[in-house]
Amino acid sequence: MYRKTYIEINLDRLEDNIESIINNHKEYKYYIGVVKGNGYGHGSYIVNSLIKKGINYLAVSSLEEALKIRKYNKEIPVLCLEPIDLDFIDIAVENNITLTISSLSYLNKLVEIKKDKNIKIHLKLNTGMNRLGIKTKEEVTKAASIIKNNYFLEGVFSHFITIGISDKVWDEQLNKFKYLLSDINLNEIPIIHMGRSLTLVNHPKIDICNGIRLGIIMYGLNQSPKKDNSFKGKLRQIKANMRIKKYHISKTTLDTNIKLKTCFSLYTEVMELQKVSKGEHVGYGLSYEAKEDMIVAIAPIGYADGFIRKNASRKVFINGKFYNLVGSVNMGMIQIKVDENVKIGDKIELIGDNISVRYVANYLSTTPYEVMCMLEDNIPKVYTYRNEVKYIEK
Ligand SMILES: Cc1ncc(COP(=O)(O)O)c(C=O)c1O
Repeated sequence: MYRKTYIEINLDRLEDNIESIINNHKEYKYYIGVVKGNGYGHGSYIVNSLIKKGINYLAVSSLEEALKIRKYNKEIPVLCLEPIDLDFIDIAVENNITLTISSLSYLNKLVEIKKDKNIKIHLKLNTGMNRLGIKTKEEVTKAASIIKNNYFLEGVFSHFITIGISDKVWDEQLNKFKYLLSDINLNEIPIIHMGRSLTLVNHPKIDICNGIRLGIIMYGLNQSPKKDNSFKGKLRQIKANMRIKKYHISKTTLDTNIKLKTCFSLYTEVMELQKVSKGEHVGYGLSYEAKEDMIVAIAPIGYADGFIRKNASRKVFINGKFYNLVGSVNMGMIQIKVDENVKIGDKIELIGDNISVRYVANYLSTTPYEVMCMLEDNIPKVYTYRNEVKYIEK
């Protein structure tokens, strides 16, 4: 690590999150940790912490991601949620990666090139998202039969497009899932999974499912709407209750005892300080003119690291105090308006306990998911455990 710009992942917090999630929800048998997007930006090194605390299956987006996990764990079953290019199926099979079948045409091509009863398959059903999955009961039944004849049909799954607090789509999707599976003997299929983080928090166990896929919640964020006791909040709740009654929406809750903490921080350091006189400019162009004499700290991070230009003017935290970026975000540097308390080498928190993922997401008009995934791999990840650095991924 030559430059002191790094992501810090707190493994104690990550483990505490998983422990709290599973202790409060023992109703499922399979807790599938979603580590796509490079573990939501936390890197693959986290997988053994997840497994230690009860995650017993993992899910990724691509064969590349699955193989990264195999660097750290050879045994844990890994489901690739997206179809893998048929040219590379052997690599997936050699590495014990579970395949997703999401269309009959892909399945038919797979049968032509490879049949093996040891290949684990999860069949993906399209219940409303129209992203991946088979959409009609006839095709689902046919696909299940082909898979059973040639492979091991280990799972069936789908994905909710809403959290289902007060909309009828959640129930419609679940009903569609059950309908699509109604000609299949589910007792022969070991893992049935449909829910994601907020399904666990906001809904009772789904009767036909014994698995749940956990993403954002593992990383410390509960995206459920909070109970709002203001006049407006109560009015919103009355309207929601009317919708719930009208559409016969199934039981949900906002109450949870799960304790979560984010485990993702981003730091850099003061590389240089500039004294700027009133009337001088800061950064490219003439858009920032000093209104008074000021001190500007320079730090080594920029849009080439995924620290996008939209961060311009936002807050950072140095030595117990908030300061703001000035000028524009450059390719590899940022500028911060500081005071005489800030010295070269001081640590700058860009995301962490004082600059939350949620603050940054709001500032950038995006989601916490994107904030944690958007940084480039050229930023090293420092994993801490019991207050010590356990591993650095460069
Ligand atoms: C298929 C699938 N399952 C589960 C998840 C996890 O969702 P969440 O992070 O909301 O738990 C995702 C996330 O994008 C997903 O695409």
